[in-house]
Amino acid sequence: MKKTIGVIDSGIGGLTFVQEIQKQKLNVNLLYVCDSRNVPYGGKSQGFMKERIEIMMQNLLGKKIDAVLMACNTLTAETIDGLRSRFHLPIVGIEPYMRHAKLTTSQAKYALILTPATFSSKRFQKLQMENDPASKIDVFPLTKLAMLIESLKNNPFDAIREEVSKELLILKDKGYTHLILGCTHYTIISRWIESYLNVEVVDPTRNVIEHMKMMLSLGSSTPDESFLYSEDCGERWDSKAMKDFAFMDFAV
Ligand code: DGL
Repeated sequence: MKKTIGVIDSGIGGLTFVQEIQKQKLNVNLLYVCDSRNVPYGGKSQGFMKERIEIMMQNLLGKKIDAVLMACNTLTAETIDGLRSRFHLPIVGIEPYMRHAKLTTSQAKYALILTPATFSSKRFQKLQMENDPASKIDVFPLTKLAMLIESLKNNPFDAIREEVSKELLILKDKGYTHLILGCTHYTIISRWIESYLNVEVVDPTRNVIEHMKMMLSLGSSTPDESFLYSEDCGERWDSKAMKDFAFMDFAV
């Protein structure tokens, strides 16, 4: 039987997962839950996120889901351990793919961008200790980028290009060869970032989906109307517009 997966993000960042799942034609129903009234989460406290995730989880559990895909680094960092101990269903999370740096040549120079909340979380400190104990990867918490990208719901990319460039200026021409994306919002403009900074972007979306496929024994299916949309925790969005948005291409 087709499984139903609840996909959670503060805003539109998790749509990058929806897009990839649809591309791979996975045999699943998706329920997308976000919190557009309170996005971004990157500057908020852990206590606040715990309250909000409770509402989103209850919303999803009322709809009989088989698993949760936490398509948000910030929520994973701040809430996933507690959720896993309380809810007895598979909860897949996402975190910056720092291990990538171990698999590449010594000439490579890595930077990592993420939200301030992920940066200061205990979970991220542990990840850093395990994967980069010598602190070779330069880490940059960015205060504005996620929200600028969120505003693409209502604006064309041209309206935010200058602000986005300013936010990323700190990384430009510093000799970085790779940039690890530590926030799912960033993936939406990853092609633009690659070209602007002249780096190879490291994005864990596909790895997370492979992990989820294994965990839940998911296969492919013929395309059908398997995408459901829920917007109960935020303001009302048009689900068709969101689907189209997920396929927008922000190449330069
Ligand atoms: N998309 C999210 C992440 O992966 C959250 C961004 C935010 O709400 O600040 O971290």
